[in-house]
Amino acid sequence: MGIGTDTWVDDAADDGIFKVNTEVFRDPEIFALERQRIFDRSWLYVGHESEVESPGDFVCRSVGGHPVIMVRGKDESVRVLYNTCLHQGNQVCRVPSGHTSAFQCFFHGWTYDVDGKLVGLPGESSYGGRFTRQEHGLRAPRVASHRGFVFMCCDPGTESLADYLGAAAAYLDLVADQAEDMVVLPGSHRYTTHANWKMATMNAHDGYHVATTHATYLKYLRDSGVDPSQRRLGKRLDLGNGHSASEFFGAWGRPVARWAAYWPEALQEQLATKRAELTATFGEDRARLMAEVDRNLLLFPNLVINDHSAVLIRTWEPQSVDEIVVTAWTIAPRQEAEEIRALRLRNYLTFFGPAGFATPDDIEALECVQRGLRNQAMQWLDVSKGAATEASAPEQDDNADEIQLRAIWRRWRLDMGGSLLTAGSR
Ligand code: FES
Ligand code: FE
Repeated sequence: MGIGTDTWVDDAADDGIFKVNTEVFRDPEIFALERQRIFDRSWLYVGHESEVESPGDFVCRSVGGHPVIMVRGKDESVRVLYNTCLHQGNQVCRVPSGHTSAFQCFFHGWTYDVDGKLVGLPGESSYGGRFTRQEHGLRAPRVASHRGFVFMCCDPGTESLADYLGAAAAYLDLVADQAEDMVVLPGSHRYTTHANWKMATMNAHDGYHVATTHATYLKYLRDSGVDPSQRRLGKRLDLGNGHSASEFFGAWGRPVARWAAYWPEALQEQLATKRAELTATFGEDRARLMAEVDRNLLLFPNLVINDHSAVLIRTWEPQSVDEIVVTAWTIAPRQEAEEIRALRLRNYLTFFGPAGFATPDDIEALECVQRGLRNQAMQWLDVSKGAATEASAPEQDDNADEIQLRAIWRRWRLDMGGSLLTAGSR
């Protein structure tokens, strides 16, 4: 398939048809192009400010293929620095997290302070002429944050983070407002999946797969006396720019002011108090949204926030056309009752944990798809569910419809150089 064609996505939603060419999951050339046109141009999630609370605290991450350090600077602001020495390219920090006053490159000893300035240069007298320390500080991408969520962008021409997030920012607010001080809890889960990154993006809040892929979990809920069919009450929204959300009433309760039938009754009073606080602060409608409704937010290209019985932050970093590394954290109020924190963590592990009910099933599905797509005779994937009614009902009420998947592909095609208009190119 030729690069730069408009034949990768067949958007004929008006006719109830939406298809994606399977080549885009297999072709290393398309993957290389995605690196440039999507990952080097989008705002990508780096981490949460609470992970680096004091000046000198840092975490090392790989973001869009770029090794970076997120560090709290001496002026208390959070910086993201490329983890690459200006001498001969070594990584200046080789541990995943910590606290420091400086990063010393172990190769030849150049030393940078936590703001990225070059502060130590062995044999400096041998450097002369036009060489200056100022020009050899650590380089940095653009950095911006929204309510503590830190993003970076490699392209100076990309819109501001606020414009990039658009309507999706309100969903980050619904997490940030759950307590005065929301913090990422210590620890994370990290695992490799042998699948194309876009299949993980599609799976992030695909409601159609739940009944079959997660049948074991639904049986577990029923065996626990919970009616999982309640989950279907909800909607899916295209938030623009490739972002999307789903909202529903989860059967499993929320540690934000709504208890579930199978939770210990003692928690009911604490959650009622929390609900009253939310109502006093935000009013009845917003408090109801925060207390009652479960949400998933997908930020294009590779971040999902599952705001359920625990709040999960998960991102997937492409390694190659058929491999991703997934990292997941949970965020919670800094101050909360011990029983609620324990319940939150148990809920997180039970469903989203690497050995939970959901994640192994999803990994199996994603890896099976990658193998299935080796058959090049299967030229198109179908993403048509709900397309016929999309124009008349942009907030799809059926949680199993696929409006959010089409939002991803429309953004993807635009970024890759295709047209925004329907192609009708079959
Ligand atoms: Fe870092 Fe030489 S590569 S000091
Ligand atoms: Fe799933």
